[in-house]
This record gives sequence, structure tokens and C-alpha cells, in this order.
Amino acid sequence: MELRYRAPEGMNDVLPESSPLWQYVESRWREHCHRYGYGEIRTPILESAALFERSVGETSDIVSKEMYVLERGEERYALKPEGTAPVVRAYIEHSLHASGGAQKLYYITPFFRGERPQKGRYRQAHQFGAEIFGAAHPLADAELLAMVTAFFTALGIPESALELRLNTIGCPECRPAYRDAVRQFGQANFERLCNNCQSRLERNPLRILDCKECVAVTADAPPIDPYLCEGCRTHFETLQGLLKTLGVGYVRDHRLVRGLDYYTRTTFEVVAEQGLGSQNALCGGGRYDGLVEALGGPPTPALGVGIGVERTLLVLHALNAPLPQPPRIDAFVVAFGEAARPVALQIAQQLRAAGVACDLDLEGRSPKAQMRMANRSGARYALLLGDSELAAGTATVKDLVSHEQLAVPQTELAAWIHAQRNRP
Ligand code: HAM
Repeated sequence: MELRYRAPEGMNDVLPESSPLWQYVESRWREHCHRYGYGEIRTPILESAALFERSVGETSDIVSKEMYVLERGEERYALKPEGTAPVVRAYIEHSLHASGGAQKLYYITPFFRGERPQKGRYRQAHQFGAEIFGAAHPLADAELLAMVTAFFTALGIPESALELRLNTIGCPECRPAYRDAVRQFGQANFERLCNNCQSRLERNPLRILDCKECVAVTADAPPIDPYLCEGCRTHFETLQGLLKTLGVGYVRDHRLVRGLDYYTRTTFEVVAEQGLGSQNALCGGGRYDGLVEALGGPPTPALGVGIGVERTLLVLHALNAPLPQPPRIDAFVVAFGEAARPVALQIAQQLRAAGVACDLDLEGRSPKAQMRMANRSGARYALLLGDSELAAGTATVKDLVSHEQLAVPQTELAAWIHAQRNRP
């Protein structure tokens, strides 16, 4: 058969055999965020393109090369290439600051980036996100990092398989001098930089620090520490002290500048040693103390994280982490003869209403074929309905594991199955 239509390149279908894993990690993320006092936020799949140009940055790869832009009339929209800017937009639009105190918001969202697809890198991917608004103290950074590492631990990913990389990139007060120093360093080593870094050296010099092609060159680039202002230095030192108190291990990574323009002070990523190949960042985030104000809201310190869902699943597979079994149905209803078919359908409907997961043949198959379906379905019980059961108002319950059989009145089937479930 010739395939006429395929999913767009770099975009994946999640089929029923894998969706239990998605549901599992999604529900763990929800539970986890709830434990840390977060509320869920859902924002539209697309936003004004200008929102991302203003926040993620016009010169960033995400905006300048990878954004999916849609035009409709006068409007220019973009499929969201990340989750933070839409949440900031909603925070401002709904005056969430007015409720006073810090706000913690989490989300699960698809996002779109027209990158070259490879393992762990897709054009539609999904993120678990968390954002904290209104908390300037490094306590918030420490709690966020502890929450992220505890999430991976809760999923069964051992600490030894991950590395938390931490950096500070200063603030608008102290960063310009550092940026100049990195630019000068880049100019002095210009011939050794890759073409991409050569062309962005003037506009966005810090990005040369996290270019994988230029690691050998930038190994000697100046670190930010001597350039930090008092506020940024104290913030970073206090954060590191808090992480030690919490027992959250990290490595300082002077090159972690991140590819989105909105960050200030703290930046971090968690990378996985196994399972991801070159796309090894499992999550990334940091502070963005200027963004709410830049997008028209009141001055509001903020910070957050985005965790790659697909990459989390790849790591879980690579580590053979314990994963839930796909849910099975409880019972499969088997009709022996035409008269039993409508009764089978009716019984299945009643069982479902009573909380029993069950299925039946919808194609008018033979009893033998129905028994094969029952065995393949993973159900524990087959409920057999033939002429004698119809006459007696019962079903023969066949235990597909022990092969024992027993007659149960049709009206008591749901209660009987629930009782078996609760048996030790
Ligand atoms: P990001 O580092 O661009 O940050 O993305 C976060 C995570 O999403 C990455 O660490 C990675 O796991 C995953 N990811 C990114 N691109 C792809 C892709 N093409 N395919 C599969 N997975 C991908 C942000 O998006 C920020 N909004 C995070 C943040 C939240 N910062 C503050 N708050």
C-alpha cells in the first residue's frame, strides 16, 4: 500500500502501546507539582509571533530559524516554540500578581521548533514546565532545582545517571562588561571559531560559550565571576549554600548561557549520561527577572524550568527504569449464538457503568474466535453467555488464568468482579 499521507517530519504519533507511559510520566509530573504547591496553567497552542520575538529574542536560533509562523489576515501567530513566554503573557493578562505573594504555575505542553530531527530532537516535542513568579530570593532557585532533581529520582532515574549543571549569567547591570570581555576573547580567537559563531559574535557573543563545535576554543574564555555585581554574586553564593544544605549535587558550568535571551542570574540544565546521545539535555531553565516587565507587566522576579518529555522517556528506556504495565481490562464478554449477542452488549454496558473495564466482539465472530480475543485481551475473566445462561439469567465466569468456571447471576457480575479485585 502506498502511503499517501505521513505525519509531518519530526512529529510523532503516540500509539496506544506507548500512551500508558506518557500518561504515567504526566501523572507523576502533576502529582509532583501539586506536592510543591503549584497550580496548573494551560495556554493556547499559538500566540502572537511578536511575543516570542520580544522574549526568547529575535537573534536566537529558536526565533530566527525555527519558529513556525502562521499568518491570518493582519495577524502573525507562531506555534509556541517554548512554554515560558505564553505563561508570562497569561500572568500579565490576568493580573495574577494582584493576588499577592509568589505564584507557582506548572504545565504540560507541546511545542514546535523547525530543527533538523534526530534522536531526542523533534519538530513537535513536549515539555513539563514549572514557573515561579514573585520570588526574588535564592530560596526559590534552590526549591526549583531540588524539585527537578527529586522528579527524576521519583521516576526511578538514579542521581548517578544525571548531572545538574549550574551557572549564573549576571544581570543587565553587570552582564554588558562580561559580554564585552567574551566578545574581545572571540575577536582574538576569531579564526578558530566556527562560521556560525563568527557571524553571531557581534550580536550575541555569549552564545559562543555553549557552541559544541567551539569547545576547544572557548575552554579558555573568561569566566563571569569577576564581573558579577554584588547582588548577583550574593544570590549565586547563597543558592550554592542552599543546594549544599538540601544535598542537591551540581557542577559549575561556566559556559551554560542558554539559547533563550530572557535569562538573568541563575541558569541550569540537567544532562543525562546515557540514552540521549548528543541531545543530552533533559531539562533547562533559570531566572528571568526582567521578562514580566519587558512584556508590559509590573517588575516581577521569576524563574522556571522546561523538562523534555520525549527525552525523559528515552532515558527511562535506556536505564530500564521500572515502568507501569499497560492497564488491562477486567473481563471479556463472549456470546455463544445470535440470541446472546444483544445480551452481551447490554451486560458489557452495565458492567462499564459499574466501573468494570470490559470488552466484547463487535464483528459477529464465532465463539472460538471470541475466546481467542478474550485470551489476547489480557482480561482476567471471560463471561460466557449461551442459551442455558440466557435461560437462567446467569453468565459462566471463566478465570482465564486458573481456568476455573463458575455461574454468577447477570445482575451480580459487577459486584462479583469488584470483590475479586479486593481479594488479598
Ligand atoms: P529549552 O532548554 O529550550 O528551555 O527546552 C527545555 C527542554 O526541552 C530541553 O532541555 C529538552 O529536554 C527539551 N527540548 C528542547 N528542544 C527539543 C526538541 N527539538 N525535541 C525534543 N526535546 C526538546 C525552554 O524551553 C525554556 N522555556 C525553559 C524554561 C522554563 N526556562 C524558564 N522556565
